[in-house]
Amino acid sequence: MKIGIITPMAEEKLSLIAALDNTKTKQHGGTSITTGTYKCHEVILTESGIGKVAAASAATVMIDNFEPDLIVNTGSAGALDPDLKIGDEVVGTRVAHSDVDVTVFGYAFGQVPNKPLYYLADPEVVADFEKLAAVKEGLIVSGDQFVQDDAKKRILAHFPDALVAEMEAAAVAQVATQFGTPFIVLRGVSDLANGDSGVVFDDYVVEAGRASAKLLLRYLDQK
Ligand code: ADE
Repeated sequence: MKIGIITPMAEEKLSLIAALDNTKTKQHGGTSITTGTYKCHEVILTESGIGKVAAASAATVMIDNFEPDLIVNTGSAGALDPDLKIGDEVVGTRVAHSDVDVTVFGYAFGQVPNKPLYYLADPEVVADFEKLAAVKEGLIVSGDQFVQDDAKKRILAHFPDALVAEMEAAAVAQVATQFGTPFIVLRGVSDLANGDSGVVFDDYVVEAGRASAKLLLRYLDQK
């Protein structure tokens, strides 16, 4: 299959790049895109940069130029669910914006007008990941903020079932949905979205990226 992978940071993509053969990297619309192969698969890997605008731009460039069969958004995330630990892997079955508020016009908190509140990951791909590993699956929320204590409380008040917070997935999901491209989100927990997160994140971001990469490569191994 032709798989497009969007990962925000260089640290998060290290393990993925290491697994690819025949790699070529070039700059494209402000993002660095590496093409390569993994076994029988064609892989297009973009380091998007951080935040929803960067992610939306990278997803658009990726889909318009390479037309992947599936977009995978990987990387790290801060835990919102108290059962999650650093290093755990989460599969996003649904994604929402955590910082969009047009409620004054009757939209749900998180909903962009004329868009769905929840963007749904491809159900067949979700089922494949279910068979692969005992990972937590559920809602991932995205906003242009690094989430710590206060923001965590605010987000959980609106999305009590959110597993993790990060800064790109909803943008990738919105663009992918607009183009009709199936997507999935895989995120490794790098911190617990609390007062220590700024320090802990730096220590664990590579490990979180490695956990996502490992799971994704296992998925490709059986495709
Ligand atoms: N990515 C990793 N940790 C995060 C956090 N606490 N908030 C937002 N994005 C993150």
